[in-house]
Amino acid sequence: MQASNLDNRDKAWSGRFSEPMSELLKRYNASVGFDKRLAEFDIQGSLAHAKMLNKVGVLSNDDLAAIERGMAEILADIREGRFDWSVDLEDVHLNIEKRLTDKVGDAGKRLHTGRSRNDQVATDIRLYVRDAIDQIVPLIRAVQTSLVDLAEQNADTVMPGFTHLQVAQPVTFGHHLLAYFEMLERDAERFTDARRRVNRMPLGSAALAGTSYPIERAYTAELLGFEQVSRNSLDAVSDRDFAIEFTAAASLVMMHLSRLSEELILWMSPRFGFIDIADRFCTGSSIMPQKKNPDVAELARGKSGRVFGHLMGLLTLMKGQPLTYNKDNQEDKEPLFDTVDTLTITLSIYADMMRGITVKKEAMRAAALQGFATATDLADYLVKRGLPFRDAHETVARAVRFAEQKGCDLADLSLAELQAFHASIEQDVFAVLTLEGSLNSRNHIGGTAPAQVRAAVVEARRLLGL
Ligand code: ARG
Repeated sequence: MQASNLDNRDKAWSGRFSEPMSELLKRYNASVGFDKRLAEFDIQGSLAHAKMLNKVGVLSNDDLAAIERGMAEILADIREGRFDWSVDLEDVHLNIEKRLTDKVGDAGKRLHTGRSRNDQVATDIRLYVRDAIDQIVPLIRAVQTSLVDLAEQNADTVMPGFTHLQVAQPVTFGHHLLAYFEMLERDAERFTDARRRVNRMPLGSAALAGTSYPIERAYTAELLGFEQVSRNSLDAVSDRDFAIEFTAAASLVMMHLSRLSEELILWMSPRFGFIDIADRFCTGSSIMPQKKNPDVAELARGKSGRVFGHLMGLLTLMKGQPLTYNKDNQEDKEPLFDTVDTLTITLSIYADMMRGITVKKEAMRAAALQGFATATDLADYLVKRGLPFRDAHETVARAVRFAEQKGCDLADLSLAELQAFHASIEQDVFAVLTLEGSLNSRNHIGGTAPAQVRAAVVEARRLLGL
C-alpha cells in the first residue's frame, strides 16, 4: 500500500479542513485495505451511473468517453496487480476516482455528480453479495450432487439410525445421506430467495435524500441488472438487512455442514469404523504414527463458529444506528468477505471430499445388529396381532431385557423363548426381526426402505436439474 504525501487539499472532502488528518486517524478511518475487493463492482456502478448521466444530458459525450477509457485502464491495472492503493485516499471509491481524475482530468471530477459514497457503497456491496450468491448456489448444488451419488450407491446399505446417539432403528445409509441433501436444498432455496431482496438498487439515493439532477434510475438499474430500484432513499443508504440475511443463510449452511462433520468424525473413529475418508483429505500426527485425522471435518465444524460470529457482529453493528448512513457501516465488509470466503472453500472441499468416502458396510451392519434396533418392529408385529401399542411396547421391553441378559439379539432368541412373552408370536416373526425386514417395511414417501431411497435419488436429481 502506497503511503503518499497527499494532504487534505488532495482529498475529496479537503475544502473545509485547516490541518491534515492525524496519522492514527488515517489508519483508523481507511477501509481500502479490505474494500479494494469491491473494485470491479465499484467500476461497474460508476460506468452505469456515468451512462445514465449522459443519457439525461448531465454528462457530455466526451466526458463519458473519457470516463469509459480511464476506467478500462484502471480495471486492467487492478486485474494485473499494477494499481497502487493509497491509504491516504481512504477507500476503494476515492482511490479509483482520484486515479480516474489523474488520467482523464475534469471528466473524472464530474463522475460523482448526483451520487454520494453512501449510495455508491450500498450499491457495490449489493453487487458483491449478488455475485457471491451466484457462486455459492452452484457450490451447494455440487455438494448435493456428491451426496446423491453416494446415497445411490448406498440405497440398501444398512446402518443403525440413532436418537440420543443410542442405536434406535435400522436405516439405510443412503437415507441418512439424503437428510443432508434436504438441508442443503433449503439452503439453496434461502439464498435464491434472499437474492431478490439483494437485487434492488440504492443508486440515486445519493447521500440520503436523493438528488436534484434529472436522474433515470430505472435505466441505471437495467444496466446493472437490478430487478428493482429502492423506494426510500433514507432506507436505501443505510439498509444492510441483505448482508445480514446473506450471513444468516451462510450460517445455516455452515451449521448443516458442521453437523455432517460431526458425524464424519464419529464414523471415522475406530470405535465406529463406518467410513474411511480419502488420504488426500486427512492429516497425520507428528508424534503418533498410527493416526489419520479427519481435519477437514474438524475445521468445518470449527469454522462454523466464525460465520455465526459474523452474523452476530452484523446484527450488533446495525442495532444502534439512527437513520441514515453512519460510518459504523464501513465495518460491514470484513465479516461479509470472510463469510463468503469461509463458505466458498468449505463447500468446495466438501463437494470433493464426499466423493472420497469409503463405506465399510460390514461394520455398519454389525453395529445395527447390536442395539436391539428391531425392537420397534417386534412391537409393531404384536400390534398387528391385536395388542394395543403400549402393551406391545411393554412386552418387547421385557424381551429385550431377557435377550440382553442372555447376551444375544432379539433375532437370536428361539421361537419358544419369544412365545413366552406373547402367545401370538409365530415363525413369521423372524422376517420382521431382520434388518432387511425392518428397512423394507418402511416403504412410504420419506421412509428409509431401499426402494424409497432409490425414488428419492431420482427426485433429488430432478431438483438438481441433472
Ligand atoms: N468507506 C465507506 C464505507 O465503507 C464509504 C462510504 C463513506 N461515506 C461517508 N459518508 N463517509 O462505508
